[in-house]
Amino acid sequence: MTVPPPIVAPSILAADFSRLAEEVRAVEDAADWLHVDVMDNHFVPNLTIGLPVVQSLRAATKLPFDVHLMITDPRRWAPGYADAGAYNVTFHAEACDDPVALARDLRAAGAKAGLAIDRDTPIEPYLDLLPSFDTLLVMTIKAGFGGQRFLPQLLDKVRAARRHVDAGHLELRIEVDGGIAADTIEQAAEAGADAFVAGTAVYGADDPAEAVRRLRGLAERAATRA
Ligand code: DX5
Ligand code: ZN
Repeated sequence: MTVPPPIVAPSILAADFSRLAEEVRAVEDAADWLHVDVMDNHFVPNLTIGLPVVQSLRAATKLPFDVHLMITDPRRWAPGYADAGAYNVTFHAEACDDPVALARDLRAAGAKAGLAIDRDTPIEPYLDLLPSFDTLLVMTIKAGFGGQRFLPQLLDKVRAARRHVDAGHLELRIEVDGGIAADTIEQAAEAGADAFVAGTAVYGADDPAEAVRRLRGLAERAATRA
């Protein structure tokens, strides 16, 4: 099996929102994707940014946008992010009664389609839907806030997904989100993740670009050991 190079996606949730374009440029040459957390104060208690910010930011960087929608009614809102030029649009399984239909809409709108699984949601009911998706985002915290502690027991879901993806020869990124840092990324990579969101670990560092490169190096080495 050839393992694709790991993706590192800094989350701008941990950036300074008053200087967003500058903060994005700080990781422009180091990051693979830019992770954009959209929260609506309904699906999660927190409230962040939405479509207008994504549209404005799209002109400020060449980085592909990995939009993580933590919102209710994603069928209504998600395609707009694809239209705004997002590379990947991920919505939550818990918020959608027909994930395959929405994945089809997103792909038709020119984006990759991602399915997110929150802390308390089992993965098994969703494994058979994965051929309709390009990314599977396994939360390693409870969705809603940055800066939380990584929950290693949630990597069992990554292991189950990895077995399923490899057995079915699916082309799917398995992404982890929450508490990913230098002391946790290796175990996530060994479990089978190949895309890594990091907010605090990147934007809390003195040199965000260097933090991204370091995380990628750790993930690469761990993946070759797995
Ligand atoms: C939280 C968001 C995460 C968040 C991760 O619900 O989905 O993307 O930014 O932040 P850290 O890396 O600080 O845990
Ligand atoms: Zn996220």
